[in-house]
Amino acid sequence: MIELIKVKDYKELSEVAGKIMLELVQANPECTLGLATGSSPVGLYQYLIDAYKAGKVSFKNVKSFNLDEYCDLPREHPESYYSFMHTNLFNHIDIKEENVHLPSSLGGDLEKNCKEYSDALNAATVDMQLLGIGANGHIGFNEPGTSFDSETLIVTLKEKTRLDNARFFDGDINQVPTHAITMGIKNIMNAKSVLLVASGSNKAQAIKNLMEGPITEEFPASALNNHQGKVIVVADEEACALLSK
Ligand code: F6R
Repeated sequence: MIELIKVKDYKELSEVAGKIMLELVQANPECTLGLATGSSPVGLYQYLIDAYKAGKVSFKNVKSFNLDEYCDLPREHPESYYSFMHTNLFNHIDIKEENVHLPSSLGGDLEKNCKEYSDALNAATVDMQLLGIGANGHIGFNEPGTSFDSETLIVTLKEKTRLDNARFFDGDINQVPTHAITMGIKNIMNAKSVLLVASGSNKAQAIKNLMEGPITEEFPASALNNHQGKVIVVADEEACALLSK
């Protein structure tokens, strides 16, 4: 069952969710984290950075696997997820570069990259997977209609997702890549626990569908209702606005 923690706003969301992840790393300094990009986790990452700078935690034995990466965007591009993770977290903590993993769209054989990433994930145990949620219910870049059995795959991004992300590309949808490489739903579900963060009215319908809607591949996040371990959703007042109670 999904545990929902309702918070006031983005600031409280970042503190509450940040504390959950911090306590996991403090309790298990050799843990493996599944990480996400996007606006939702930035405050949580800042919370972890502050805790690290205050000497409360070390990431030197932590491993990480990111959910996804755009295709056809060089790693050095400021909006690549590789750059995002370094700018917003990795450059500010003591995690080792060799311990961080992101799916890669480099090289000519994307199917091989997908298989290698799934193999690496299957050889590891992700202790906690951090997720944001798309307005259309996507997790990672698994858009509506993706099989719940999917493992790391190449996806065509929906126009809605590209529009939502255009804000990172000078507001120009034409600059947003059309394809991405992402962990599949099955990879995400293999994590021992899941922490999903959602903020703002743009997410209200998605949080309602997640908490109250049917479990269907048309709403990828609904798979989390089938998770056997702990799934915690931290959502602010605006994101919870459409919940019936
Ligand atoms: C990010 C990711 C996406 C985002 C989702 C929400 O790695 O996989 O599923 O979590 O698009 O994005 P934000 O947080 O920007 O609203």
